[in-house]
Amino acid sequence: MTKSKSKIPSPFNPEVFRKEGHILVDTLSEYLERALSGKEMAVLPWNDPDHLAETFSFDSAGSEEESLDAFIKRIIDNSIHIHHPHYIGHQVTSPLPAAVLVQFCTTLLNNGAAIYEMGPVNMAMERNVIKRFGSLIGYIPGFDGIFTHGGTAGNLTAMLAARQVKTDYNIWEDGVREMNRPGYIISEQAHYSVARNVKIMGLGDESIVKVPVDRHFRMRTDRLEEIKTAAEKKGIRIISVVASSCSTATGSYDDLEAVADFCEKHELWMHVDGAHGMGVLFSEKYKDRLKGIERADSVVIDFHKMLLVPALNTLVMFRNGERSFETFAQKASYLFQKSQENVWYNSAIRTIECTKSALGIIAYTALKYYGNGYYRNYIDSRYDLAVTFSLMIKSDSKLQLAVEPESNIICFRFAPEGYNDLALNQINAEIRSRIIKEGSFYIVQTELEGKIWLRLTIINPVTSKDDLKALLKIVSEIGKEEVRKMA
Ligand SMILES: Cc1ncc(COP(=O)(O)O)c(C=O)c1O
Repeated sequence: MTKSKSKIPSPFNPEVFRKEGHILVDTLSEYLERALSGKEMAVLPWNDPDHLAETFSFDSAGSEEESLDAFIKRIIDNSIHIHHPHYIGHQVTSPLPAAVLVQFCTTLLNNGAAIYEMGPVNMAMERNVIKRFGSLIGYIPGFDGIFTHGGTAGNLTAMLAARQVKTDYNIWEDGVREMNRPGYIISEQAHYSVARNVKIMGLGDESIVKVPVDRHFRMRTDRLEEIKTAAEKKGIRIISVVASSCSTATGSYDDLEAVADFCEKHELWMHVDGAHGMGVLFSEKYKDRLKGIERADSVVIDFHKMLLVPALNTLVMFRNGERSFETFAQKASYLFQKSQENVWYNSAIRTIECTKSALGIIAYTALKYYGNGYYRNYIDSRYDLAVTFSLMIKSDSKLQLAVEPESNIICFRFAPEGYNDLALNQINAEIRSRIIKEGSFYIVQTELEGKIWLRLTIINPVTSKDDLKALLKIVSEIGKEEVRKMA
């Protein structure tokens, strides 16, 4: 009997993959070198959105006319360059190349992580990352964690757990009862995903109970009692306080000890949105920002922000691991056999997502190859540089700092004397718009108390003091031009 030779369909041809893969790695290595050097490239090659969409219009028949390498180069050329030292905008990290290479591998393997069988290595590695973070946080044994695609989903997962645990009937199964509307106390400066999550839960505006901030943009914990009482008078049953470590706009860390005391007193769920600022767990110098973190019922940590891992990659930690099984009481019997309930290795029982990518492998790779020491130096250097930058701003009378930085996020503005906030808002918005369109830097802006501030996140490991000096020079030059235009 002659054995018929199986024919591999051409899109899966391993030889083609090998050739194109080698070219790809060469292209990306050259790109990385150029991006990190910051030479000869705009941080954001600005393009009109409609024009760019037109550039990428394509034929439904499929075409191989353009080589994969040429196609990839077009993608690169039109992208924002996160590894460029002048990328100091949103909280998206320049991923570690080792993590990128492993992600390349996990993308091909495409092992999901809904259940153990579909991603055994991922689940094993997740387990070890969770253990590491449990000990960094200072949790006592009994903690657990799960990975989600992003901090928004992570916050939602934790907030759902809070709702389930702090309700005396099965709210997941029976839904919200009008007379028993749960409420979350959040800071005015909480990331928008926190308030949005309350709405996703179908709870509406009244369940978002906001606390004002102090002059450092930290939650006014001295107002918690009064705010809880007022909400309860309106029929809202407060179940949780969500603290920020740190906040998005100014990088301010809420007082976790005060939040923990309040939550303990009233038996509330304490959730910490540490999507951005949890990296200080590695830092001796800045760890005090998180005093009280070990008392949090749940904590969100974004690896794709300050832990140098490609997006999206989030860990949700639970002080009491059992609680994480209560979030989604719903069962999908085709996935989970009865005897396997409440086991750590079938992640879909505890996450919004069913299929997930191999997030644990990527987080593990970064921690395995770089370790606590690398992260300590990285975090310290970025937070130190923010302090240095704040001193540069304070030494220039035309510049103004919004608040002393507590992290690697800094807000400042060009504010020469004699101009009101309305004029300064216009000037600063124009400064940011011109800078990003011209491509020398990528920075963002934020509004605080009606004032527009230029906002930096010094997230890139290669951004230096000289880069920041160059930014201030440009800000001042453009600022002066804009002032002249107003005269
Ligand atoms: C404090 C904070 N929480 C949550 C998020 C949302 O995280 P993600 O973009 O991973 O969904 C962000 C994003 O910037 C953030 O800064």
